[in-house]
Amino acid sequence: MASQSTIAIPTVTLNRAVSGPTDPRAPKPAPLPAGNPAARDDKPRLLGGAHALNLQDPRLTKKYHKIAEGAHIVLIGLGSIGQGTMPLLFRHFEVTPAQVVVITADDRGKDVAAEYGVKFIVNPLTRLNYREVLAPYLTKGSFCVNLSVDVSSNDVMLLCNEKGAFYLDTCTEPWAGEYTNPNMSASEKSNYALRVSALNLREKLANGPTAVITHGANPGLVSHFVKQALLNIARDTGHKLTKTPATRQEWAALARDLGIKSIHIAERDTQVAYTEAAKKPHEFVNTWSCDGFISEGCYQPSELGWGTHENEFPEDGHRHNLKAAKGAEAPSIYLTAPGGTVKVRTWTPNYGAFTGLIVTHAESVSISDFLTLKEGETTVYRPTVHYAYHPCDYAMMSIHEMVGSGFVEQKEKRVLKAEEIATGMDELGVLLLGHKKGAYWYGSQLTIEEAKKIAPHQSATGMQVTGPIIGAMVWAYENPNMGLVEPDEIGFERVLEVAQPYLGNVVGKYSDWTPLKTRGPFANDADFDMSDPWQFKNFRVY
Ligand SMILES: NC(=O)c1ccc[n+]([C@@H]2O[C@H](COP(=O)([O-])OP(=O)(O)OC[C@H]3O[C@@H](n4cnc5c(N)ncnc54)[C@H](O)[C@@H]3O)[C@@H](O)[C@H]2O)c1
Repeated sequence: MASQSTIAIPTVTLNRAVSGPTDPRAPKPAPLPAGNPAARDDKPRLLGGAHALNLQDPRLTKKYHKIAEGAHIVLIGLGSIGQGTMPLLFRHFEVTPAQVVVITADDRGKDVAAEYGVKFIVNPLTRLNYREVLAPYLTKGSFCVNLSVDVSSNDVMLLCNEKGAFYLDTCTEPWAGEYTNPNMSASEKSNYALRVSALNLREKLANGPTAVITHGANPGLVSHFVKQALLNIARDTGHKLTKTPATRQEWAALARDLGIKSIHIAERDTQVAYTEAAKKPHEFVNTWSCDGFISEGCYQPSELGWGTHENEFPEDGHRHNLKAAKGAEAPSIYLTAPGGTVKVRTWTPNYGAFTGLIVTHAESVSISDFLTLKEGETTVYRPTVHYAYHPCDYAMMSIHEMVGSGFVEQKEKRVLKAEEIATGMDELGVLLLGHKKGAYWYGSQLTIEEAKKIAPHQSATGMQVTGPIIGAMVWAYENPNMGLVEPDEIGFERVLEVAQPYLGNVVGKYSDWTPLKTRGPFANDADFDMSDPWQFKNFRVY
């Protein structure tokens, strides 16, 4: 039985019995005058009635930082995440519309830019033009928030450093064409390789304006969830902890001492659209970037941090051996299969047991690296870390359809807008396995009904990304000269504090679930390790 633990950070009180989904056919309020954001009342309100939703958490309206005169916030891309981020920028920073600039590849989000009165430039960035297009806006103290696909994170990050501008992205992206380049090996296309290439810039960027890489929900927020979850498990299992760990080695030692063998980023998205907006055959539909999900689910190999407790190496597993790593041991391995086809058993508290996909993500590599314990040069402990993702049902069907067609992308792609989503929850958290109490999930349960009431222009999935983006931006402004940092290296308490009002219920739940409980009808004929439920082979579904 799952039991709820006391949570260590305060939660926003949200009544889960909110009334039914907003009907998109209901008359819409009069449109706000374009170019006049001052007229836009984007402040969250206390919604009355029997199902009152208290949106008066002061953190929802708190202004954290005044953008200096002459500085800009430059948003690259205004897709699902960019559109959701826009209202939060005006909520949480003292910034004028003239200080915000969008540089993007197409018209998506044009209406949102107009609503806030910000400059909207359609000029797809390329290797050849990015300096010329971006440089005029990257004045000293500016913040470049890269929320695009197909724009090299590394090149833009270097340019920001040169210009004295902050930088954040939610995914390390290469220039267009790299994910599908037939001349690159699976290892070269991996997130491990992208991470190595980014971390190789550390020295160059050292002490420069803070550049936070891969900070959305996952990667991003989940690194902070892991730390909070470790502290909660320590508290609940009577583990003596005299202070909060401060270094990677202290966090790694805590994870080892608690007996953590495996960590899933366990996410179940149950959001579903109104009938009119349902997925059609040969259409890719998702609650966030279709292109982003296709790249990581179909063009990159499945990847996982590889734990020291594992007894059996996967048959389709490979170790990286990239020159760029300069001989450093890789904390992760890759499988010669795209993540959209690799299934594992996992669990979240609201949904229960389900099958997720090991889609590659930066956090699988960075968390497993962060929690690697060394004695001298020898690795003595590391947990297995991977994503276990069940996207919304339409996206699951879309991936299945694309795989079935021989990995040919659907011609039509559509990211569901908040008003097209009828109901459902994105349940996103970290599942820590192997400790004294078995399994512990810690994370965010956010429904679309709640998301619609908290801020405009985003699904529940988007809001779990945009709140943490603001959290990381606040941290960067408060820690301005940190150079390149990963989510695991930044102040987890501060980011959680800022992001939490956007996360719905943040809960920690224990469970007696193990993958051996959901083995299926031929359990006795298949090869399971009954002596240790937390072996990777027990999670894998063939
Ligand atoms: N870390 C996380 O939790 C998380 C979650 C969701 C998305 N993401 C990442 O965030 C990024 C954006 O996601 P999204 O859902 O908003 O994607 P989207 O597909 O909805 O939008 C992508 C945007 O990028 C723009 N773009 C594409 N090529 C460009 C170019 N050459 N120059 C400038 N702009 C260009 C497009 O015009 C569009 O506005 C992706 O990299 C995605 O993987 C991360």
